[in-house]
Amino acid sequence: MSLVSGLTTVKSQQSPGIRSSINNGWKFIKYDFASDERSPVREPENLQLPTVNDSNWRSVDLPHDWAIEGPFNDSLENNTGLLPWKGIGWYRKHIRLEPGDKGKKIYVEFGGAMAYAKVWLNGKYAGEWPYGYTSFRIDLTPFILEGQDNILAVRLDTKNWDSRWYPGAGLYRNVWLVKTSPVHIAYNGIFCTTPEIKKEKGVLSVKAEVENNTMVPVLTTVKALVYKLDKNQQTTGTPVAESADVSANVSGNRIHHFRLDINVKDPVLWDIDNPELYRVEVSVLGGRELMDKCEVNFGFRSLLFTPRDGFYLNGKKVEIKGVCNHHDLGALGAAFNTRAAERQLEILREMGCNAIRTSHNPPAPELLDLCDRMGFLVQDEAFDAWRAGKKTNDYNKLFNAWHEEDLRAMVRRDRNHPSVFMWSTGNEVPDQNNPALSESLRTIVKSEDNTRPVTSGCDRDYSGTDGFQKTLDVFGINYRLQRYDAFFKLDDNKNLPFHSTESASTVSSRGEYFFPVVQGDLDNNLPGKGIFQISSYDLANPSWGSTPDQQWEMIDKYPAVFGEFVWTGFDYLGEPTPYYGDLSGLTPKTRRYEQIKKMLDNQGVTEVPSRSSYFGIMDLAGFKKDRFWLYQSKWRPDMPMAHILPHWNWPERKGLVTPVHVYTTGDEAELFLNGKSLGKKKKGQYEYRFRWDDVVYQPGELKVIAWKNGAQWAENVMKTTGKPSNLIMEADRKTIKSDGYDLVFITVKICDAGMLTVPRSSNLVNFTIEGPGKIVATDNGDATSHDPFQANSRKAFNGLCLVIIRADKNATGPLMLKGVSKGLKSASVKVDISN
Ligand code: GAL
Repeated sequence: MSLVSGLTTVKSQQSPGIRSSINNGWKFIKYDFASDERSPVREPENLQLPTVNDSNWRSVDLPHDWAIEGPFNDSLENNTGLLPWKGIGWYRKHIRLEPGDKGKKIYVEFGGAMAYAKVWLNGKYAGEWPYGYTSFRIDLTPFILEGQDNILAVRLDTKNWDSRWYPGAGLYRNVWLVKTSPVHIAYNGIFCTTPEIKKEKGVLSVKAEVENNTMVPVLTTVKALVYKLDKNQQTTGTPVAESADVSANVSGNRIHHFRLDINVKDPVLWDIDNPELYRVEVSVLGGRELMDKCEVNFGFRSLLFTPRDGFYLNGKKVEIKGVCNHHDLGALGAAFNTRAAERQLEILREMGCNAIRTSHNPPAPELLDLCDRMGFLVQDEAFDAWRAGKKTNDYNKLFNAWHEEDLRAMVRRDRNHPSVFMWSTGNEVPDQNNPALSESLRTIVKSEDNTRPVTSGCDRDYSGTDGFQKTLDVFGINYRLQRYDAFFKLDDNKNLPFHSTESASTVSSRGEYFFPVVQGDLDNNLPGKGIFQISSYDLANPSWGSTPDQQWEMIDKYPAVFGEFVWTGFDYLGEPTPYYGDLSGLTPKTRRYEQIKKMLDNQGVTEVPSRSSYFGIMDLAGFKKDRFWLYQSKWRPDMPMAHILPHWNWPERKGLVTPVHVYTTGDEAELFLNGKSLGKKKKGQYEYRFRWDDVVYQPGELKVIAWKNGAQWAENVMKTTGKPSNLIMEADRKTIKSDGYDLVFITVKICDAGMLTVPRSSNLVNFTIEGPGKIVATDNGDATSHDPFQANSRKAFNGLCLVIIRADKNATGPLMLKGVSKGLKSASVKVDISN
């Protein structure tokens, strides 16, 4: 058994000295590509120079993704979203330093910059960081001009970056300016652990790296106060504990490691149901003067991964009901937004999900703050490739020079979050034949944090049995249900915990259903294939994947499997499997060429239009596909629920067999069509859905009554609707902040006279705002749509579309969104604004 004792967190941004956001007021220009990629505009030389005239550059605020505005372009890769993310982008910002800043260290911190970032201050080269997903900081101190305007210039280059999904481009995360005394806490230099957690006493151990950037030794004292945080992340009153002062002489130009052990009385545990947080405030004094102060959030919690009895959080068994997610936020692109990420987590929580795998890269640090606060466990992943690449210019080009720095950057930044419970060094890396390499990565991780296990997502048949698995603390398998048995049979593996790092890869389009209903692999050419959508009976998956049901059968047969991370929670930009191909890269007359050609010919088009994935349990707009209720039925067994599919608007199917499936937490269910029972069924062993596969369609009402342990438990009704005649608009929140970031997500439904959503409707809706706000994006979840996300109008896709609004900065409300659609009654929704 590998016991991992309680861990802790830092407020994802450790904040030595004064750390202020510099997201606003940047100038931006892009070069070396045009929207059609055929007429590149060459990048002039020396754009780092302060004399460059940037008056015709665009004004932008960060986080900023330069590619999400598109346009979608068929000549670009489907796998990266048909969006123009390749190119060179320059960002410039004027920074004024105050007279009191003289003698301070000045740093710029990037949450992430895509990609190959190079940074100059006042025309002087200050540093670089190529991998787009890790956070980094650059020392600007030597280049500062006191009392003058300082010009920060950042060059980003995605031309030589290759990706298997849409990576976004630009300064797509938060950027900070840090001012500290020369004696200060090192970057990510606080490490909190909780080596002892008892009912009446917890021990918080704080390791603090203090850096002395002067030439002379400084007598330094470090001390800490511990606070309990309330639900709003505020410290509650007085400290609950404090450390003794620890002093040491820190030599000039050296880093000293301090250690403080602090007893905390009656510690309240961090848990997924009750994510209770503490904050430690670490102060650094040089002599008697306060040099630096850093606030770090943490929690008391313990992790135990057992080889054959699952995973325990705080001594309680918890099945990992996880999803993998890429970093993009749909219509917002890769530009990080806290509210958009929070909304995703809220939807996942409603489904019963308790864990996230940040496939396949370190996330925005704010996502981990959300997970700490909302009670999600996180598998924090570093890479999609090591030394051997999957694409010509993926991480393989950086691995030798940068992997150690990147890995340390991830672990040091994230090791204090109680939500982070595992590290993943990679995903399906081609180097699975190189256990020594894997071991070396594990060693790097352990040298920064030895309180969490290291895993890696493995997809080679041999990885679980040939030795690679021994380089991991916890084995992670992607799909490969047929390999479970071999893993568990091997005596060598008897001490190795096991979980599914990636499962299912079921594909579907929200609200689309194709007949006949066929269980199977997409390569068998399901009938739906011709229209670039995928049937939502949740029976289709690529050859390497499975249905959710098949995955669960394995989890239920092998109780040692401590859980899964489904591919994926949300649809994401790029990787529109199985519609990723076009003819350009294929050899004529091969099977695949002929298949795709037929598909295109059927549609009378020359290119595959799909630009986002079909894997999500939710679509790109965050709308629930049927699969949401399938997962909910398994992951929230105590919640009475039943869900019928498909919709019941099939005028062309009168008299035809139209299967009805029901997802429910009940163990028995009876289906009625227009009041007539179609039979009561019992869930068998390893059955996770009810199927009435021979229902003959007639319009009207389907109703299911579910039973559990002999008692009536839940019901659901699906009715044939009338024609579209109304709009309904529902805001996800009544009030938003005018802080320049907060968003409201408004769901727009095309409804009939009785206010039922009309399933197959695709009406165009035009939106206008009255009041101080802007439409940031619109979407409808259709993976084939090439309409710009920034448009103020949107066609519904199967009855729904989405409008995302931001209030003007510092505005007072309210604002009103109005929706108008030809032939429909208009609607509006009011949103209040708070400062
Ligand atoms: C996996 C891979 C993921 C994604 C998925 C699609 O093999 O790790 O990144 O490509 O397949 O099914």
